[in-house]
Amino acid sequence: MPVFEGQREQPVTGNYFVSAYPPFSAWTPAQVPALHTALAQSEHSEPLGAYVHLPFCQKKCDYCYYLSYIAQPSAVVDRYVEAVIREAELYAATPGIGARRVRFAYFGGGTPSTLSSEQLRRLISGLKSALCWNGIEEVTFECAPRSVRPEFLTTMRECGVTRVSMGVQSFDNELLALNGRVHLAEDVVRAFELIRQTGFEWVNLDLMCGLLGETEEKWRESVRRVIELVPDSVTIYQTEIPHNTQLYRDMRAGTLPAPMVSWDVKCARLGEGFLRLEHEGYTVVSAYNAVKDPRKHRFLYQDYLWRGADMLGLGVAAFGYLGGVHEQNEAGLDQYEAKIEQGVLPVKRAFHLSPRDQLVREFVLQLKLGEVPAAPFRERFGVDLLGELAEPLQELAAEGWLTWSREEVRLTRAGLLRADRILPHFYDDPFRNVRKN
Ligand SMILES: C[S@@+](CC[C@H](N)C(=O)[O-])C[C@H]1O[C@@H](n2cnc3c(N)ncnc32)[C@H](O)[C@@H]1O
Ligand code: SF4
Repeated sequence: MPVFEGQREQPVTGNYFVSAYPPFSAWTPAQVPALHTALAQSEHSEPLGAYVHLPFCQKKCDYCYYLSYIAQPSAVVDRYVEAVIREAELYAATPGIGARRVRFAYFGGGTPSTLSSEQLRRLISGLKSALCWNGIEEVTFECAPRSVRPEFLTTMRECGVTRVSMGVQSFDNELLALNGRVHLAEDVVRAFELIRQTGFEWVNLDLMCGLLGETEEKWRESVRRVIELVPDSVTIYQTEIPHNTQLYRDMRAGTLPAPMVSWDVKCARLGEGFLRLEHEGYTVVSAYNAVKDPRKHRFLYQDYLWRGADMLGLGVAAFGYLGGVHEQNEAGLDQYEAKIEQGVLPVKRAFHLSPRDQLVREFVLQLKLGEVPAAPFRERFGVDLLGELAEPLQELAAEGWLTWSREEVRLTRAGLLRADRILPHFYDDPFRNVRKN
């Protein structure tokens, strides 16, 4: 029976991207005490990181499902910054975090670059006083082109940001407007030059293939223009059609202003984008990312997190992972801030992973890199990975999506281009065919 049976390349709606295993829908309020138990223990040996969610944007893009609040007054952002700092202090007061060193941080959104310089300075200084930030190895900060300003970039640099990731999505102004973006291609070029002038060591640019109304020609042109800027890395996401987006609502109402792109075309365009980047000397290092110099630019956030590191999830709707427990915060600003005000961690749901769940989680996440060596799994979990996952490995290999040996599992290029649809085949029974969120 074919693995994807009939629905392989359909323009399915909902989320495609796998961000967690087990899926969010398995996380429950009843499991939150497991997080408190993990935080009460002091003998954690995994590296520690922090994700900070900054949920503010100028305007909502039609395809976007991330939690963000639009055009908020600065008093709202000020209050939020204080809440995030307070949350970090609450974690720091636990034996499980205490004086552990934060080795990597990721400021995502929303659009973190909509903060003012003062707000960013306050946020970073608050986090630095709450947590042990000394010698942090990587700090990523997401930006959108219109909100990139010279003085803010200088502040970012002073605050220790090492990696800037900017959402470009497309270089076609018509397509950008059609998908609800506020910026123009000219803004990208201007912002990119400013970022370079400020001297950041790593600039990543995000593109999306399969935006509403995208044609072969427009996609090729976007790839050509991104290469022309010579960023240190390029991320390409296949456009998902999550249910809480304007794109989905328009699709259901039959009011889409342009044709949607099917999944097989998105895959083909991602493949073509990767080939062109490779032709220009980039190396494809994951199902989404091509890097100019992989020895110099290793994405530590990903490297650590996908190999079992702990990560604090700070901010509204943020999710983290601590001592084998997934956790997600309250997903509404009011609920989040109310809990912080009461001096309690604003966690809404959690999932306590068994050793088997942890093994599958790390395998599934690492498979996004295109290859997973078996030896670290033998050392970490004391089991033979290939024996544990023999059935899906055999099925997927027979269909040409991967190859495997005793020492490693490797996605074929066709498999890599569809990675997030392959990963659920490794899920254990209770988590197969369930909602993602
Ligand atoms: C939080 S946003 C990045 C920063 C900033 N907010 C922006 O959009 O420019 C993270 C990235 O997620 C990707 N993204 C958002 N919605 C998506 C969707 N429906 N399908 C695929 N990728 C999506 C975009 O490439 C975006 O740059
Ligand atoms: S894609 Fe980025 S800018 Fe657009 S709404 Fe989402 S988070 Fe905000």
